[in-house]
Amino acid sequence: MIGNDIVDLALARKESNWQRPHFLDKIFTSYEQQLILEAENPEIMVWNLWSRKEAAYKIYNRSTGIRAFIPRQLECIYEDEARGLVICKKNIYHSQTTIINDEIHTIAVAKKDFFNQIQPIRPIKNIQKINGIPFLVDRSGIILRPVSISHHGRYNACITIKKII
Ligand SMILES: CC(C)(COP(=O)(O)OP(=O)(O)OC[C@H]1O[C@@H](n2cnc3c(N)ncnc32)[C@H](O)[C@@H]1OP(=O)(O)O)[C@@H](O)C(=O)NCCC(=O)NCCS
Repeated sequence: MIGNDIVDLALARKESNWQRPHFLDKIFTSYEQQLILEAENPEIMVWNLWSRKEAAYKIYNRSTGIRAFIPRQLECIYEDEARGLVICKKNIYHSQTTIINDEIHTIAVAKKDFFNQIQPIRPIKNIQKINGIPFLVDRSGIILRPVSISHHGRYNACITIKKII
């Protein structure tokens, strides 16, 4: 299982003021708020953690079928700017984040080994959504692999996994 999420910092700045009252309380656990307050760049930390939660949620949603806005139930365990875990209701997901200029991109996987299997793909037409969840399908509509798509502002990313999982 895989999930990804992308944040364009310039658009995030326009869309949401993370410093407004209650924003941090609504989205982040007290552990995560501490990470934000102690960060060298709190704004980057906000959107780094946000993209981890969204990427992990895509796995959670795919595997359980549950759709919900549950930001505080997706708790990031921070290792460093690039790595960490996200825990959601006893499920553990691994995350890898890259930050290039204004682009924050997180890939989450259900098992650490899957990082070696990740393949970026172009958002091509043989992607089919089943209950809103994207899959790569063959010409006869048979599911080949899971796909995760994310777009925000100037950036987009589409990934799949080399082996079926
Ligand atoms: C569904 C949700 C994850 C989409 O995230 P987003 O940042 O708004 O948008 P993105 O561009 O990253 O992702 C959209 C794509 O995700 C895809 N997607 C939806 N569910 C998915 C899943 N389980 N796995 C992989 N991809 C999924 C959709 O197909 C969509 O692609 P499309 O626009 O081509 O149709 C988000 O709106 C949501 O509901 N989050 C709830 C989880 C939560 O509590 N988040 C709090 C913020 S920390």
